[in-house]
Amino acid sequence: MNLPVFTTPKELDSYLQCHRSQSIGLVPTMGALHLGHQSLFDRARHENAVVIVSIFVNPLQFGANEDLDRYPRQLELDRVICEQAGVDALFVPTVESMGIKDLLTQVIAPLAMMSRLCGHTRTGHFQGVATIVTKLLNIVRPERAYFGEKDAQQLAIIRRIVADLNIPVEIVGCPTVRAESGLALSSRNQYLSPIGRSQAAVIYRSLQQAQTLAALQEINAQKLLAAVTTELDTVSEFQLEYLELVDLDTLQPIDTVDKLALLAIAGRIEGTRLIDNIIIGR
Ligand code: PAF
Repeated sequence: MNLPVFTTPKELDSYLQCHRSQSIGLVPTMGALHLGHQSLFDRARHENAVVIVSIFVNPLQFGANEDLDRYPRQLELDRVICEQAGVDALFVPTVESMGIKDLLTQVIAPLAMMSRLCGHTRTGHFQGVATIVTKLLNIVRPERAYFGEKDAQQLAIIRRIVADLNIPVEIVGCPTVRAESGLALSSRNQYLSPIGRSQAAVIYRSLQQAQTLAALQEINAQKLLAAVTTELDTVSEFQLEYLELVDLDTLQPIDTVDKLALLAIAGRIEGTRLIDNIIIGR
């Protein structure tokens, strides 16, 4: 049976009318699906009667000098991947059907959470994410929505919005899926050459240095960060954008790890911006 694909909120709503009494799981994506997304589909499939995947390359979350135009788009392949993963329906709205051009309202998460980490360089990004995710949650009205822990700042912000605005959905964070080298899977890895990919393995390798120290009861943030930096320095091609140790929920910097902390990093290899993180104290 062919996987149904809906392009307007109205069409999707008609389909969902017959399923509203069942549990609905939503996996919001921007397409260019990989094994990381598939792990979200599997989890959603396991926990819900109906699984909806949305694919929308959201212009609101790309800055003027970012990769909106060249962001990978492969709808036919994505459709096959979703079909094989047992997804029930695809929601692939257009910029028009999402009402982006006429949008006068946006969702603003706490500035303290949006402005740190990726917010240093991606001004407006999290406002774009917050707005589109809120719209998707309102359109689909799922019982659960699934997001990757790789985008830890995004996940923390979405959890906060859902709590603050009483949106009736459970936000499920799913572990990062990695290549054998440790490189976190990302749609943007497609931009890297084979050499770039192997150089990019330094990102996770460096985070693991801190994890090893933390397992030996090191709780001093400076020492944990220094261990990461030493390893990063072994690959001169990696251009660090930020490396921060922050509280997992509030995203504010910490000096000592006395509860769950997020060690988050961003940087560039071959001009491609990559992010990764680990949770310390888990
Ligand atoms: O993580 C993503 O792919 C996007 O930021 C999301 C959550 C689908 C919103 O556009």
